[in-house]
Amino acid sequence: MDNKTSDPNWRVIVDAIADPAAVIDQSGVVIHLNPLLADLFPRARVGYSVSLISREPALLKAIATARGGELRSIVQLHDRVPVERKLTAIITALGVDEFEFGKPAFLTVFRDLTDQERHAQLRADFVANASHELRTPLASLKLIVETLLGAGRDDTASKDRFLGMMAAQADRMTQLIDDLMSLNRVEMRAHLPPQDTVDIGELLAQVVQALEPLADSNGVNLALLPILDPIRVQGERDELNQVFLNLIQNGIRYGYEGSSVTIDIKQTHAPVGGSRTAISVADTGIGIAADHLPRLTERFYRVNASASRAKGGTGLGLAIVKHIVSRHRGELLVESELGKGAVFTVLLPTMPKPSVFDV
Ligand SMILES: Nc1ncnc2c1ncn2[C@@H]1O[C@H](COP(=O)(O)OP(=O)(O)OP(=O)(O)O)[C@@H](O)[C@H]1O
Ligand SMILES: [Mg+2]
Repeated sequence: MDNKTSDPNWRVIVDAIADPAAVIDQSGVVIHLNPLLADLFPRARVGYSVSLISREPALLKAIATARGGELRSIVQLHDRVPVERKLTAIITALGVDEFEFGKPAFLTVFRDLTDQERHAQLRADFVANASHELRTPLASLKLIVETLLGAGRDDTASKDRFLGMMAAQADRMTQLIDDLMSLNRVEMRAHLPPQDTVDIGELLAQVVQALEPLADSNGVNLALLPILDPIRVQGERDELNQVFLNLIQNGIRYGYEGSSVTIDIKQTHAPVGGSRTAISVADTGIGIAADHLPRLTERFYRVNASASRAKGGTGLGLAIVKHIVSRHRGELLVESELGKGAVFTVLLPTMPKPSVFDV
């Protein structure tokens, strides 16, 4: 037996490769595979043909090409079972002259492109959605300008109405850009834990005060339930402000004359992981059907796009909320039933020793 190839070191190197990798012999039999490959292809086995990894003819052909003297060949594989995925395989000939069974002849490294492609797709969808959202008010603006320049030129009575409509469309575009920028800012800071300390009761009192005029004009009853002791959380004031502004605004916006929005702040004591503060925003408005719930925090997702747009919504509010809450190591829970209102609960880790700040 030649001991060189049974030297364990090359196996350690293959195990250390940060991608799924297998070493195969001249006849296409797998002689070693790393843990990542075992995860990616649970059917792959040492001592069996590489065709257990993938039956794709392109892979077998690429190995044959490498056997024919090519140093390196790259193939794209499209697996459909057990799940649909796209992979790249890079086959490198290890430069063995003699044909010998059971000896390393090729290194095959795989790269799963599925995630990468999904991200590219999400990005493309996002750009398409954002452009569409901007194009809608822009098209309205253009139409109004054309009317003012054409048929409406001498219609002084309608002029004010048209100018008002133009201002509303311009506001809509500004709102959309502001929301996009704030989503971007939150995403860029996603990995940085917030540093400040925020008195959550005080913050909510301010948000409620700021939204009272909107609630009044919609005929919605807005109430913040009192709390006994101040509760402090580690967080960024501006970001948390945005979270509750969005949630309470939604409660008002998707309510109706006579419905209510109630905010309740509670401490929850978990046996593990420390205590958390639960802030719930409960409304008695139109509610959300169960099939929409899982998608609510997707960018631009709206149950009824035209109704939301009519109320000045961009569909980015909850996407921003979700990002901010996760940056705060918190959780966002939604419970709702169509026609029965909705409860959005934000759970945030409470500051461990509030007494320190009382000094
Ligand atoms: N409290 C609620 N009651 C009923 N439906 C809601 C409620 N909150 C959110 N929704 C639904 O979820 C959708 C997404 O909400 P989100 O806050 O992300 O966007 P938006 O309110 O349409 O716009 P904005 O970006 O201005 O917040 C809304 O369009 C609405 O259909
Ligand atoms: Mg909203």
